[in-house]
Amino acid sequence: MGNSLLICGASQIVTVRGRGPRRGVALSNIGVIRDGAILLRDGMIVAVGPASKVEKFPESKKAEKLHVGGRVVLPGFVDAHTHLIHAASRAEEYDLKIRGASYEEIARKGGGILNSVKKLRAATAEELKIRARGFLAQFAEYGTTTIEAKSGYGLDVTSELRILSLHKELDAEQPLEIVSTFLGAHVVPEEFRGKPGGTRRYVELLTEELIPEVAGNALAEFCDVFCERGAFSVADSRRVLEAGKKHGLVARVHAEQLSNTGATRMGIDMNAASCDHLEYLKAADIRALGKSRTAAMLLPGCDFHLGLERYAPARELIDAGAIVALATDFNPGTSPTLNMAMILSLACSRLRMTPAEAIAAATINAAYSLGREKRIGSIESGKLGDLAVLEVADYREIPYYFGVNTCWMTMKRGEIVWLRD
Ligand code: NIG
Ligand code: FE
Repeated sequence: MGNSLLICGASQIVTVRGRGPRRGVALSNIGVIRDGAILLRDGMIVAVGPASKVEKFPESKKAEKLHVGGRVVLPGFVDAHTHLIHAASRAEEYDLKIRGASYEEIARKGGGILNSVKKLRAATAEELKIRARGFLAQFAEYGTTTIEAKSGYGLDVTSELRILSLHKELDAEQPLEIVSTFLGAHVVPEEFRGKPGGTRRYVELLTEELIPEVAGNALAEFCDVFCERGAFSVADSRRVLEAGKKHGLVARVHAEQLSNTGATRMGIDMNAASCDHLEYLKAADIRALGKSRTAAMLLPGCDFHLGLERYAPARELIDAGAIVALATDFNPGTSPTLNMAMILSLACSRLRMTPAEAIAAATINAAYSLGREKRIGSIESGKLGDLAVLEVADYREIPYYFGVNTCWMTMKRGEIVWLRD
């Protein structure tokens, strides 16, 4: 028998059990067990249930014990939309935004994503790696056990490949799993911008050169596009995603963030794993997401940070049966947070999701959007021992407290990766 560990003394275990994804009323059915225990073997969950039952198993009696002192245990958060690798903050733009400049105005003046591109190209791989390591440690501190990470601040062959290689190296050297996404279609870089045929030539660079190289070297699982005015049109986005698909990369889309472009319908059509943002959805888009297998990835951290009034129509999406998920969108321009519990607070207070719905959206549905719902995203036998233990007595206190870190311990594959001292 392998290495057994019994986690006991939980006031509540939020299992989110039942294979995902969750739609409609099922989103709030999170399978809370009071006074629960979890038995792990070799980093995998073997059993979960009331302590009175699980503690009676012969294996539990011999297992090492970890008493969590009446705290709440959740599946580790799955943050399925981050821009992990970037060289610097854009706090100077934050200042301008507060004084009234819009995100798009700043971008038109060479700020925004292009500002981050300039800084990333000037940084060494080692500098980027050290910075990302610090962020990964913080993700763990906030109870996140898996993240998706996008390239997109390189936008030339060398820099994009450098970012994706860093995803791979960082995935191998530290405990959190990093799921890699190629976002070469973030914006058209400076050297192609405003030049005759510039956008067409850049799209060709992506479809003919970068995507085959990325896929050929297994540097990404997903291909994303920022489909928005000032970024890529629906037609160009489709070209990029089709090239990705041809090379085995599954589509994701930054859709309807600042305006309605039709990106969501295109994403669904391309069998995208997720359409993300979705502030400017139309009724027909909501209905289409409700019927599709594409996750609706909501990122309320962006609207909060940009000071925007308009949030995604979460309630309508849930009522329509869409697979609603939540993520931080950790990035230097629109959402500089890696605190998933804060995203849950925003989801509850601004998107009017219930605490139960927000937890399911940030675990099992996020895992589904990464094609990993059979391995992570819930606490049930056969899944990885990815857990977050929070310093609260009731799961509703997780979004209730905001801007603070209630995470007490984080476990990845049965190993403690963070513990509050
Ligand atoms: O998800 N919308 C596009 N991409 C990022 C923002 C990137 C940036 O401003 O640096 C987002 O919001
Ligand atoms: Fe993003």
